[in-house]
Amino acid sequence: MWKRLKHWFNPSSSHTHSDTSRVIDQELLKKDNIPAHVAIIMDGNGRWAKQRGLPRIAGHHSGMKNIKNITLMANALGVKVLTMYAFSTENWKRPKEEVDFLMKLPQEFFPLEIEELMENNVQIRMTGWKEGLPTHTLKAVEDAIERTKNNTGLILNFALNYGGRKELLDGIQQMLNDVQEGKLTPEDICEERFSSYMLTAGLPDPDLLIRTSGEQRLSNFLLWQIAYSELWFTNAYWPEFTNEHFLQAIAEYQHRSRRYGGI
Ligand code: FPP
Repeated sequence: MWKRLKHWFNPSSSHTHSDTSRVIDQELLKKDNIPAHVAIIMDGNGRWAKQRGLPRIAGHHSGMKNIKNITLMANALGVKVLTMYAFSTENWKRPKEEVDFLMKLPQEFFPLEIEELMENNVQIRMTGWKEGLPTHTLKAVEDAIERTKNNTGLILNFALNYGGRKELLDGIQQMLNDVQEGKLTPEDICEERFSSYMLTAGLPDPDLLIRTSGEQRLSNFLLWQIAYSELWFTNAYWPEFTNEHFLQAIAEYQHRSRRYGGI
């Protein structure tokens, strides 16, 4: 695995970034402290496009094209789960043309990338509500989930039509129903049980949350799950986020001391 990584460290790689290259050194990454779950808020597509005099959708398209590289990098490093915030429950408020464009991206992304994702043993999953998604969007995602379901490598988890508060409210309602039906007692509700009512049930909580574009907020993303995640922010817009940024985030993560409230 680490041999394969050399490819990414190659200074001739098109992703090389002079300011981050110093930390991109194999010596600096510890193989035994790779975050199991990395979650990314892919922000700044619109601003990236505006800066170039392009329509916002061009930024989303460019952002979509960036997902595979980061996925393969994460997979090569040994990350187990990569959750990408692709569309929030609040994003429906955007202009119709932008929403329609975003909803067409899975149809483009999966046919384009699925072979390489298959070759790399990547499994596709979705966290979010299927209800409300256009049929064509859902079909593209579900086909990819079905096609990759037996893959055992990195889980590429798309947060699509996802919102953290709704997830908590739905989970709590479901728990109360189960209490009413006698399937659960209030005393049974512990952190582990609570997690099993979240849409991410079965996945580890994110160890590292990355947000691009300079914004430093959570935007309703994985509110329960990121209680103890390390947060890492970069000014780079998502379409310009490179493998080197990713490696820098992991390197900084490895220098953090996670205490979970202890000392
Ligand atoms: C936030 O940037 C980004 C989004 C709302 C969409 C992110 C989606 C992708 C990158 C592609 C998803 C691909 C698949 C296959 C599902 P913004 O528009 O808020 O940027 P701004 O803050 O600069 O306006």
